[in-house]
Amino acid sequence: MEGIWKHVWPCSEYLGSYLNGNPEIVKNKKCLELGAGATAILSIIALQNGAKSVVITDKYGPDDTPERQRIPALQRDNIKLNCKPDQVDRACFEPLNWADLATTKRVLTTHCNGGLDVVLGADVFYDPSVFIVLLDTVKAILDVFPKAEFYFAYQNRKPQPDDSNPTVAPL
Ligand SMILES: C[S@@+](CC[C@H](N)C(=O)[O-])C[C@H]1O[C@@H](n2cnc3c(N)ncnc32)[C@H](O)[C@@H]1O
Repeated sequence: MEGIWKHVWPCSEYLGSYLNGNPEIVKNKKCLELGAGATAILSIIALQNGAKSVVITDKYGPDDTPERQRIPALQRDNIKLNCKPDQVDRACFEPLNWADLATTKRVLTTHCNGGLDVVLGADVFYDPSVFIVLLDTVKAILDVFPKAEFYFAYQNRKPQPDDSNPTVAPL
């Protein structure tokens, strides 16, 4: 499933439309996006709707492929292309791997000292093998910020007869 981070998945369009229709969810709020991919669409929409700050996260690091290491640069380009300069200044970009809770704790300590109101995730429940670590990550965040709200969109993907893996494949 390498490369799934490159796409705009229907979930992000769906949740993005919901945020556009309900801007009070993010307006003046401190937000964090999980699994933002290269596009970081939800963060763009949060910033466009007046978010106070957004921490844009995905899994990348020195042990990942050179291509995956481009994620933060691509996210930054997309934010710059779609947001006003004062909105761009409210974004930061951080690696956060659901399978490594230390990365979540580091991001919270470094970037969420002033609080956290909203956690966003589009199509992050795409692979049953990551459900538990993702839920552990969300729990770790909500343990520190119990009043934060988690907004996510997922797609129910049924396995095809010739594909027993219910992941992003059968769209
Ligand atoms: C199906 S894509 C969704 C991308 C984007 N949110 C969207 O809806 O267009 C799933 C995202 O989760 C990220 N991801 C997968 N495993 C992860 C992990 N262990 N920690 C953090 N992010 C992960 C992928 O890199 C990818 O960007």
